[in-house]
Amino acid sequence: MISPPFPDLPAGFRFGAATAAYQIEGAHDEGGRGPSIWDTFSHTPGRTLGGATGDTACDHYHRYREDVALLRELGVDSYRFSISWSRLLPQGTGPVNPEGLAFYDRLVDELLAAGISPAVTLYHWDLPQTLEDGGGWRVRSTAEAFAEYAALAAERYGDRVERWITLNEPYCSAFVGHAEGRHAPGTREGRGALAAAHHLLVAHGLAVRELRAAGAREIGITLNLDQLDAASRLPEDLAALRRAEVLHNEIWTEPLFAGRYPALERETWSGQADGPWRLPGDLQLIGAPLDFLGVNFYRPITIAAAPHREPDPELRTAVDIGVAELDPYGSRHTTMGWPVVPAAFSQLLRGLDFRYPNLPPIWITENGTAEPDVLTPDGAVHDADRIDYLADHLAAVAVAVAAGVDVRGYYVWSLLDNFEWARGYEQRFGLVHVDYDTLTRTPKDSYRWYRGLITAHHART
Ligand code: NOJ
Repeated sequence: MISPPFPDLPAGFRFGAATAAYQIEGAHDEGGRGPSIWDTFSHTPGRTLGGATGDTACDHYHRYREDVALLRELGVDSYRFSISWSRLLPQGTGPVNPEGLAFYDRLVDELLAAGISPAVTLYHWDLPQTLEDGGGWRVRSTAEAFAEYAALAAERYGDRVERWITLNEPYCSAFVGHAEGRHAPGTREGRGALAAAHHLLVAHGLAVRELRAAGAREIGITLNLDQLDAASRLPEDLAALRRAEVLHNEIWTEPLFAGRYPALERETWSGQADGPWRLPGDLQLIGAPLDFLGVNFYRPITIAAAPHREPDPELRTAVDIGVAELDPYGSRHTTMGWPVVPAAFSQLLRGLDFRYPNLPPIWITENGTAEPDVLTPDGAVHDADRIDYLADHLAAVAVAVAAGVDVRGYYVWSLLDNFEWARGYEQRFGLVHVDYDTLTRTPKDSYRWYRGLITAHHART
């Protein structure tokens, strides 16, 4: 189904598909799994669209063989999935759950038997509830518990897993979870969110140490770095853009890749970021060398100056930095309401490369789109817009690669339609359609298109 021109990607460039545990597994109270903050959050009335939960989701826990067969048929080189922390350690620390360990053993072995290389995300937002009860990411002991969990996973699966991602989008864990309050744990905090951001980075650093000690192969972190533009050249909009850069990007990239905290963090948070949670030696721990940086990209954002929502700096949430996020893009929008601007992807990758000359190689760990997919009576989903989105974004990656950015591979988000967090099940990101009544999986046109692209790439290179 694929028609030329193919994105001009180098030989050795790899293709994959991605998912996350809470979004697909279901079996929330089976196999000895402990509850996570997403169980609590999604079961709290008013938190998710229509009260949707991940209790069943795609029932991947029981249907993983069928899903691996879909991956094999798709022809991907690698599959990125996350481990549910509370399946391995129901209380986040302490007693280990052998049934949980055995589930991921089966999954990993099934993947290897299908010729697919496993890429594991250790934390895709589902903090064990017991740890949240003890302070969650606001306290350092959660980072220490994460190190224990990382060591356990590395020891058990390290012989078979090629790529390890410590955290997925810590921006969302820290700020969407603890400042916007749209994600679990669903609070609106100032200092708490900033402490969470720091402890997430510490957790990453401690996990890297454990993974290295266990001989893990490739170790990285996945960030949702944002391509931000200023609404105008007015000084106040440019200053707003600089604060937004700190909040969205530099709070992660500066400690990880430049060994320092963001230069403008005082202006951004009125001095609140520099809290007692920062200990001597943390920057060294956080900045330990990585084998790759995972980048998730969906859409660009335009930033303008705006009044703070809360005048008293002490009472502000961490996302209240005196900016407005605008959408002046005259492009098509996806059902998430996100503008489709592929050129922004090249810009983001080239900007990163320019800014951090010592950046490790990049893997695109997520890119994809939610579309108004309809299962037609002929049993198909004709998702032409998704195909265009993927083709155009892959072409944008190819532009960055041609300009010298070292991008090694690309994972589509997502293999399956799944639980889109607070947005429930209405947003469909999958290459494979899921009927949530019957749990039937139906490959969409984009699935066949992606298979064709992978086959063509391997044949050409
Ligand atoms: C980023 C997250 O990692 C993933 O869980 C989510 O479903 C996609 N973006 C789409 O919003």
